[in-house]
Amino acid sequence: MRFRDLVLTAFLLVPASHAFAVDAMKVVNPLTEAEEKSAYRVAKLFFAARAAVGEKASFTDDPTNPKNDKSSLLEAVKLSYDRIAGEPLKASSDPAVAQMWQAIETVVDRAMRGEYKGRWTDHLNFPGKLIPARFGYEVTQEFNSKFKAGSVRWTTAEEYLVNPQAKADEWEQQIIRSKFQSANWKQGQPYAEKIVDTQGKTTIRYALPEYFKTNCMNCHGGEMGKQIHKGKAAAGTGTFGGILSVQYRK
Ligand code: HEC
Repeated sequence: MRFRDLVLTAFLLVPASHAFAVDAMKVVNPLTEAEEKSAYRVAKLFFAARAAVGEKASFTDDPTNPKNDKSSLLEAVKLSYDRIAGEPLKASSDPAVAQMWQAIETVVDRAMRGEYKGRWTDHLNFPGKLIPARFGYEVTQEFNSKFKAGSVRWTTAEEYLVNPQAKADEWEQQIIRSKFQSANWKQGQPYAEKIVDTQGKTTIRYALPEYFKTNCMNCHGGEMGKQIHKGKAAAGTGTFGGILSVQYRK
């Protein structure tokens, strides 16, 4: 048993004070419970951070902005995670979750120090603002530069994509269209596959959907939404907004 597996096993023996909330999922080649929980936690933590950034809406790339309060933002991320994941955050128990937490902290830190100054000028309505999309992209880049056993991508359907660097790969496009945007797909249900190649190398692919909430629709609905998405605003609260796609290589 490798160290990583040991850490995961140890974590699973710790009784959770909340019931763990993973919806039933379709699996081609089943993930172990530990793999599934790890990807779920990474995705939920990422969504929690995006939600906190969207709700605060006062953060900017300007280091002299008095509203750039790092500890209150990180506290909001933790609270948001407890709420949407149905369990308290234990970042250090799983290397992937710990790495996601670190990526979030690092990006918040850099934003506070003004390191993104001049980068967020593409939308005139939000000059220099730390919005969920920009924040999310930076967090995925930071995570991928540090985590060696896998990677993440936050992406969405073709019609909503703004940042070409966040474009979905073929697997993701297909899953988005055939699963998450299908009327039959249960809200919030992830999709996962374990692919073993001829050399016995395993790739785990996992995607958790995110939906437009009231807060998101303030920007993505109406005239503002049309400006963001080349003429077509987001469909409405509760509709598909994007995914966090997680890959683990073994
Ligand atoms: C403060 C306004 C604001 C809020 C709140 C907001 N967004 Fe956005 N979103 C934007 C803007 C502006 C863009 C375009 C990206 C850019 O300018 O960097 C964007 C981009 C996106 C994209 C395209 C991403 C890409 O990389 O191409 C998706 C999907 C999206 N947002 C979903 C959401 C969801 C879901 C929420 C709520 C959890 C949300 N947004 C909250 C303003 C917002």
